Amino acid sequence: MVANAISHLSDVSSFLAMEVFARAQELEKKGRNIIHLEFGEPDFPTPAAISKTAIQAINDSETRYTHTQGIMPFREAVVDKYRRQYGVNISPDQILTSSGSSVLLYLAIRLLIPPGDDMIMTNLCYSCYNNLAVIAGVNPVRVDIHLEDNFELDINAVKKAITPRTRAILINSPMNPTGTVLSKSCMKELAALGIPIISDEIYSDLTYEGDIYSILNYTDNCIVLNGLSKYYAMTGWRLGYMIMNPAWTGVAAKVHQNMMISAAEFVQKAGVTAIAEAENECAKMAKAFDERRKFALKRLSECGLDPGYNPVGAFYIFLKYPKDIDSLSLSMDILEKERVAMTPGIDFGPGGEGFIRLSYANSMENIDEAIKRLEHYFFS
Ligand SMILES: Cc1ncc(COP(=O)(O)O)c(C=O)c1O
Repeated sequence: MVANAISHLSDVSSFLAMEVFARAQELEKKGRNIIHLEFGEPDFPTPAAISKTAIQAINDSETRYTHTQGIMPFREAVVDKYRRQYGVNISPDQILTSSGSSVLLYLAIRLLIPPGDDMIMTNLCYSCYNNLAVIAGVNPVRVDIHLEDNFELDINAVKKAITPRTRAILINSPMNPTGTVLSKSCMKELAALGIPIISDEIYSDLTYEGDIYSILNYTDNCIVLNGLSKYYAMTGWRLGYMIMNPAWTGVAAKVHQNMMISAAEFVQKAGVTAIAEAENECAKMAKAFDERRKFALKRLSECGLDPGYNPVGAFYIFLKYPKDIDSLSLSMDILEKERVAMTPGIDFGPGGEGFIRLSYANSMENIDEAIKRLEHYFFS
């Protein structure tokens, strides 16, 4: 009886990356040297200027609730960033700031999709998407993407997935776990469907080839999710924001007020410094990721593990492995035998079986050593 009370959430799964990490920790306790390529977070510390602002703000007692949409200087910094980078004009009223973008994805789903209705998303995608849909009581409709198509979304497949109950399409570019970006033409065609789009652009600043663009360049019938976790190396600070059509702001603000009240004041202050002053330092981190990306791709291809596509963003390579074994067993086996921790592809949807995700948010030496170990595992 007690267990039944929560049975509607039985489909919510935990991150398999965490299972791999937990086992890696056990092995580390036994003195084994593990190379961690399972995490989706920068290995760099937060730039000092950002931390300094937060410390000053705490000392100045800027430790209170704020306006639910965030302090005006933070929202203005975001407005300025979108004008500079994407050439789009948004107003601070369209922005809602919160403690990370994850909670804002939940809010965006609740906002646009009544329980029981459909949200189109990709198979593959960040594991959270399916879980948050289930938590929100929404029906996830998955559209397959394939290595053979460079993981591009097929607009005809999206059209086929539309039902009278489709309320939103959730996209992510650059994408976790593939590191690929959606083409401009794909974004344009998605926008033309006239269905609201939730666009997770948290890796947008980590695009190493080609132009950077946002769904906002093509439609305002959308919610953009973004945050400071990745490009600004601020995962643990928990600071994210969404940009939405002005028609939705009032209700979004009410829901957010009830759920979160506001993001922490001193963290928002630090966010202003990040966006307004730390871009140069963050650009250096992005350059380092790009160098590691190129190095990892070169080394993988030299040892017969070429991924077969070009991951141009985020810090992930999604690797099809040459072995007939499921991805969770493979990840655990590589961890035990070669001491490299990676995320099983199945974490990103049924289409991820047969793949593993490597994060190159690690030092060049560690990437080199990890690829040597993979070569040993697969080919000796
Ligand atoms: C695609 C994607 N969106 C969102 C997040 C979470 O972002 P935040 O730290 O802002 O909650 C992640 C984290 O890995 C991610 O990969």
